[in-house]
Amino acid sequence: MTATIRTVGIVGAGQMGSGIAHVAALAGYRVELYDISPERIEAGIATVSGNMARQVSSGKLEERARQEALGRIAPARALNDLADADLVIEAATEDETIKRKIFAQLCPILNPEALLATNTSSISITRLAAQTDRPERFIGIHFMNPVPVMKLVELIRGIATEDKTFETARAFVQSLDKTITVAEDFPAFIVNRILLPMINEAIYTLYEGVGSVEAIDTAMRLGANHPMGPLQLADFIGLDTCLSIMQVLYEGLADSKYRPCPLLVKYVEAGWLGRKTGRGFYDYREDPPVPTR
Ligand SMILES: NC(=O)c1ccc[n+]([C@@H]2O[C@H](COP(=O)([O-])OP(=O)(O)OC[C@H]3O[C@@H](n4cnc5c(N)ncnc54)[C@H](O)[C@@H]3O)[C@@H](O)[C@H]2O)c1
Repeated sequence: MTATIRTVGIVGAGQMGSGIAHVAALAGYRVELYDISPERIEAGIATVSGNMARQVSSGKLEERARQEALGRIAPARALNDLADADLVIEAATEDETIKRKIFAQLCPILNPEALLATNTSSISITRLAAQTDRPERFIGIHFMNPVPVMKLVELIRGIATEDKTFETARAFVQSLDKTITVAEDFPAFIVNRILLPMINEAIYTLYEGVGSVEAIDTAMRLGANHPMGPLQLADFIGLDTCLSIMQVLYEGLADSKYRPCPLLVKYVEAGWLGRKTGRGFYDYREDPPVPTR
């Protein structure tokens, strides 16, 4: 048994929120996109429009389908505009305090039957669910970046998640033409439990002077056949998100092997968060991007 989803609310219009809006609108859902910063909503919709235009030029999408999908995405001026959503996906900054505040504001507005999901990369679904009025209708739907391109979505139940919530989330993700993997609710789930310690180790390798940014990325691209080097990938994910995930692993598993590299902390403190701020392990103000170490 599944609930019917027609309208999807998205909280956070950054890299992930806009990507989720993109795939949901193309699959025929009405999308309401909210962000605390109105400029991010505008920028998010512009990104969706541009990325869909690229799909049209490469023959993957018809211009008419693009126009129709864009017409299904409505900017939400306030959280109140999400009141009629059947499913809300939270995709705001990876910070538990921010996410808790969002759920506290959102729950009283939503229809009691509406499902609530989080796109968190690492934070406990059970703990986030416990902050809401609907732990049985709360679930982790973890998309990968960039959402329109990446096939995988992790589904994570909290301790109280009901079967109907899980089945509805599964049907929703399948309707987006994504492949599901189910993860248990432990810090960083499957993909980031494995990926982030590798990225953190690459940053230690740089920190200890074993190799330059270029040497490390070339080594892993050509030596391990990774499509992107780990430092390039870190910039792509966002260094703030990488640091938050490492902190969740370090605190959640209480094992020193997850200690975030001090160099990662330094980059985040500098506001050098990777691609999204124009500078991280590479400087994206240059074309091609130039390593910063
Ligand atoms: N970047 C990745 O590769 C990736 C992959 C999977 C999941 N995620 C997860 O997705 C979430 C978002 O990541 P992102 O990469 O899109 O980050 P981002 O920095 O691009 O976007 C975050 C957005 O949240 C908004 N925001 C902050 N506080 C808010 C609030 N109170 N209400 C509404 N909006 C608020 C910010 O204005 C920003 O636009 C995080 O939980 C992250 O862990 C990220």
